[in-house]
Amino acid sequence: MVRAVLLLALLPLLLAVAQGGADGRTVYAREACWQCHVHVRDAFPQIPDARRAGPVIGAPGPARSPEWHLAHLYAPRTTSPGSEMPASAHLFAGNPRAADVEAFLLAHDKDGDGVVTRTECADFRGLDTGNGIVSRADAAPVPSPEALALVRYVAAAEQPAAAPAAAPDAMPRTGPPDDRATAADRGRALFLASCAGCHGERADGNGPAAPFFPDHPPRNLVRGDYKFRSTKDAAPLDEDLFRTIRRGAGPSMPAWPHFSDAQVWDLVLYLKSLHPYFLTQELFVTETGGRGGVRIVQEGADTDDASGADLPPGAVRKGPDGRWLWIDASGERPIEDGLRLGRYAFRLGRPVYDWMEEFRPEPLEIPEPPFPYSEESAEKGLRVYRELQCASCHGLEGKGDGAAAADARGNLGEIVLPTDYTRGARWFKGGSDARSIVRTFLTGLHGTPMPSFATTFRGVTSAPAPEAPWNLAHYVMRQAGIR
Ligand code: HEC
Ligand code: HEC
Ligand code: HEC
Repeated sequence: MVRAVLLLALLPLLLAVAQGGADGRTVYAREACWQCHVHVRDAFPQIPDARRAGPVIGAPGPARSPEWHLAHLYAPRTTSPGSEMPASAHLFAGNPRAADVEAFLLAHDKDGDGVVTRTECADFRGLDTGNGIVSRADAAPVPSPEALALVRYVAAAEQPAAAPAAAPDAMPRTGPPDDRATAADRGRALFLASCAGCHGERADGNGPAAPFFPDHPPRNLVRGDYKFRSTKDAAPLDEDLFRTIRRGAGPSMPAWPHFSDAQVWDLVLYLKSLHPYFLTQELFVTETGGRGGVRIVQEGADTDDASGADLPPGAVRKGPDGRWLWIDASGERPIEDGLRLGRYAFRLGRPVYDWMEEFRPEPLEIPEPPFPYSEESAEKGLRVYRELQCASCHGLEGKGDGAAAADARGNLGEIVLPTDYTRGARWFKGGSDARSIVRTFLTGLHGTPMPSFATTFRGVTSAPAPEAPWNLAHYVMRQAGIR
């Protein structure tokens, strides 16, 4: 009986489908999305609360990018761990370039990160679809016009909840756990369950959903190009990682508000156990420690283990003669000042992790805003914006169309378009409150063309020095319609 009533209610829509109207609403009806979702703007057969399996479409919630919607529609579990929503892969076609791209990656992806840069192979053979690198994103499943219409329709109903990125820094109430090695293991398990759909099982940015994000792909977390930091260095603080995970980074990288502090810390420690940042920088063993170095801080209990046979590769032990030895796949090597530890020493060799004291990057003090947003302040900010030539990339109106925008390249040689502020708060990945914006332009976004203005700012003359960063942030906020 209920079914029959539902069908009657849908009759006009079903007729529209028969007549070939491919607007999003029609596809939504035909694909029976309404069986699990209530749509706030449009009336579909009313589903009793108890049977409504999916969230209300259009209820205030997270902002999602079109890329996220496509990836989710194609395979919901890749973006939403454990989702009950059925996949709609039938609304996509296979990419005719897929085989060529795979063959090309096999032949030229020398470092195995799923990306071929111009340094790895100068001739892209037409496989790059325009962003300056070749990756599986160049062979992503092709959405049908119906899939695109459906995503437009669903996205149009979205009401981003007061942008999570605008919330004051979501800081932990507890500090990181002491059992760092086991915490990193727990973090890895949580990562595999929640993050690997986008970031890949090896955390190298090559999850099954990754091809849907050609322009801002899920980060290769092994490489360690962290954009959102409050440090002078390219490495983030633990707190930066915590904040990124808790509140997400823009409409493609989800927020994880339901994770406990302990869970987020586990993830932070897992990400740190990948340690690429320190490796690509200056990871040398020095007895004395010091910047960029690691210091052996604990004398081991393994001293009498003469063979080291049961220690895994990556472990460190003291040899019979009192010298420190590092065990790698081929045997043992004395640790001397300047020995460069292999990357896998950190991935497999948690013993090493326990034995070293980490280098903590230098934080950049970012004060609390001294005054709130005002038009007058934003007006002064325009002068600072001009003086610092933000417009060369972001354009005077903030549309991301400055003269230098087309040449803006990330550190893989890929095109990274300057942010179009006018799209609003939800597109600010590092946060859209004044303090976050100040942090963004003081630190810059590592790995992208967005430079750090920490030193440049000292010479600013168009506004009084202590006010200038806030004036500039307010101008950016005005461009973005944030008050
Ligand atoms: C069997 C029930 C079911 C059906 C049918 C279904 N969904 Fe879902 N949908 C879910 C569940 C459960 C979630 C929450 C988990 C997730 O994000 O995948 C969800 C989440 C979503 C979201 C994300 C909402 C948000 O803000 O997080 C969108 C958008 C969505 N569905 C669109 C669709 C569309 C379009 C269709 C039709 C092609 C559809 N759904 C069909 C169950 C369903
Ligand atoms: C729906 C896909 C998706 C999922 C799921 C996802 N991420 Fe991401 N993540 C992204 C994208 C896309 C970016 C790049 C954002 C950008 O820079 O534009 C990113 C960036 C990041 C960054 C880089 C931050 C920086 O400072 O540069 C970290 C850290 C991160 N994600 C951690 C996680 C963790 C931990 C999880 C699981 C709890 C997770 N992500 C789940 C898509 C995802
Ligand atoms: C050389 C080009 C360039 C210049 C100059 C530049 N930017 Fe950017 N900016 C970028 C790029 C590229 C991005 C996008 C990075 C990304 O999406 O990962 C960006 C992103 C941003 C964002 C968004 C960050 C977020 O949270 O998503 C803000 C805010 C910003 N820039 C402010 C400024 C300000 C203010 C100035 C001047 C003081 C400036 N930029 C100068 C290239 C530039």
